[in-house]
Amino acid sequence: MVRKPLVAGNWKMNGSSASNEKLLDGILAQADSFPAVDVALFPPAVYLQQVQQRLQGTTLAWGTQNLSQFRQGAYTGEISAPMLNDFGCKYVLMGHSERRCLYAEIGLDQLVLDYIIAEKYGAALKEGITPIVCIGESPEEHEQGKTEEVILRLVDIIIEHSGVKALSQAVLAYEPVWAIGTGKSATPEWAQDVHTLMRERIAKHDQATAESVQILYGGSVKGDNASSLFSMPDIDGGLIGGASLDADNFVAICQAAASV
Ligand code: PGA
Repeated sequence: MVRKPLVAGNWKMNGSSASNEKLLDGILAQADSFPAVDVALFPPAVYLQQVQQRLQGTTLAWGTQNLSQFRQGAYTGEISAPMLNDFGCKYVLMGHSERRCLYAEIGLDQLVLDYIIAEKYGAALKEGITPIVCIGESPEEHEQGKTEEVILRLVDIIIEHSGVKALSQAVLAYEPVWAIGTGKSATPEWAQDVHTLMRERIAKHDQATAESVQILYGGSVKGDNASSLFSMPDIDGGLIGGASLDADNFVAICQAAASV
């Protein structure tokens, strides 16, 4: 089955009104060069309206970098799924390792976090927003050979939470923490193996869902390594951090996704 590639640009806590305009100009000017690719941008939430205004009516989609598992109420600083709908978000990121580290600082263990991510996943699905669930092992877990355990734990928890079929409305992103922002991408073969692991786990529940779910790779993807990663059969695009802040680099990644 041929899955459409998706390239997602996570701006993290970067940008200003002025720099965002320049970045959006640069990407939109070249959007015709990656016609068969889904592309989505994830600005800091305060710039959501700016991005919505610029991307409305284009082929590009947008979303936020996190959301609350709750619908409304006394949750200072949080953003709910209905609010994302209010601003036309098609996607939302969740479970990013930078969020996990932050929460880990206040004492939650990774298993509890996985359950919270499953709640967020359910909250997004309920509003018709596509969750992009980030999953990845830390450098320590990598060295201890715990990759499979860490990855499959979250896959199992989200299947247990919302059922396997819900994954056909979702996206998974394998993001080894040791590759994020380090310039040290996973090899295409390593990423492919982990993606296969996830797809096989889903296939145990439902073959059709396993074949249709988009699984992205994230961690030091750049214009010059994107093609080799995206040409692997189970890598359906990328979640891009640093390189999404540079229009030409980001466009080169989108073009690489278009040409595999
Ligand atoms: P990076 O970040 O591309 O800067 O490594 C990836 C991510 O955090 O999603």
